[in-house]
Amino acid sequence: MTVILILLLIYRPDEFIECEDPVDHVGNATASQELGYGCLKFGGQAYSDVEHTSVQCRALDGIECASPRTFLRENKPCIKYTGHYFITTLLYSFFLGCFGVDRFCLGHTGTAVGKLLTLGGLGIWWFVDLILLIAGGLMPSDGSNWCTIY
Ligand SMILES: *[C@@H]1O[C@H](CO)[C@@H](O)[C@H](O)[C@H]1NC(C)=O
Repeated sequence: MTVILILLLIYRPDEFIECEDPVDHVGNATASQELGYGCLKFGGQAYSDVEHTSVQCRALDGIECASPRTFLRENKPCIKYTGHYFITTLLYSFFLGCFGVDRFCLGHTGTAVGKLLTLGGLGIWWFVDLILLIAGGLMPSDGSNWCTIY
């Protein structure tokens, strides 16, 4: 029994802990420095673009712990998902892009209105946004990543 507890203590396997989502400092560098961890921005295309941070984790109730029950775990990516799907957005962009529906859905409301009023920039903006979407230049405005479908 003691051996198991010691092993748990060293490895803290994932089944016995639960971790919070990364703290969102919403770009506040002061708050980030004060806390010492958390995300200034979310998302990113390449791995190197994505911020990594520590998150607060705690051992589940009923697990005995000699070390503190709550601790920081390093190197969690600053990524969040808010229900935006790439394929859906691409379809919106193709079929309804001239009304700005794609940009409305992604939260780019200001430019969406512009796109609607100009009927997709008379087709040019409609086309540019299709390319941008595919190239990764047009993403959800809240910095979230595309949800993945399995
Ligand atoms: C940033 O965070 C600090 C510390 O939490 C806070 O005092 C300050 O008001 C915040 N600044 C902004 C612009 O929210």
